[in-house]
Amino acid sequence: MTQSEVPLTPVRPTAATSTLGSLLVRRRSTRSFGPRPLSIAQVALMAWAAQGRTTEGHRSCPSAHALYPITLTVIAGNVDGLAAGAYRYDAERHVLIPVVGGDHRDRVASTTLADQGWLRHAAALLLLSGDMDAAMQHFADQPPQGRRGQRYVWLEAGHASQNIYLQATEAGLGAVLVAGFDDDQLLGLTPAVVPSGQHPLALLGIGHPADQEG
Ligand SMILES: Cc1cc2nc3c(=O)[nH]c(=O)nc-3n(C[C@H](O)[C@H](O)[C@H](O)COP(=O)(O)O)c2cc1C
Repeated sequence: MTQSEVPLTPVRPTAATSTLGSLLVRRRSTRSFGPRPLSIAQVALMAWAAQGRTTEGHRSCPSAHALYPITLTVIAGNVDGLAAGAYRYDAERHVLIPVVGGDHRDRVASTTLADQGWLRHAAALLLLSGDMDAAMQHFADQPPQGRRGQRYVWLEAGHASQNIYLQATEAGLGAVLVAGFDDDQLLGLTPAVVPSGQHPLALLGIGHPADQEG
């Protein structure tokens, strides 16, 4: 017997009835950023949404076996009270650890594949990278062998990216996921921004949307 279509209950999220639904509706990619700097508090919020510690041994994103193979690097350029530079986010302690000083947004944006010159105008770039070797070893007994662990890392990068989008939406900020970059160029930047031994997964620009500048 052929099954007929099943009409679903309409989903009409509003700010009043569903905070999450409203964020999902309003979430968009922002590619035009204004000159207003982010505050450290806003950067903290975004870093926490991406990879923050929630309870003992857990973070804001799901992670296979709670391995947490992803590292967040904040490439700050226009953040009030935070010197331009690349910083590693320590999720356990909720601190930024300086890696290299100076404004590296331009260098990082120049590794993107298409003409994404607008990306350098984001107040900060959030780089997600993964420890592929650790994940491959950890999940070595799961087929397809050697690849399952890597897949988990990529999936987790998607979770972290969506968290960043939704948190940005709630905070009135703009965010965009740029996954089109040249891995080798990004890995080859000197001084390095990708943690040693890790693979770049995703780059997100965050800042105040240009159309909200006043
Ligand atoms: C895996 C992935 C890779 C993406 N890479 C890029 C990118 O390199 N450059 C870019 O401008 N947007 C990129 N985006 C954002 C999409 O272009 C965007 O989500 C899409 O146009 C839908 O628009 P919306 O996010 O405003 O709903 C990417 C999105 C995903 C999920």
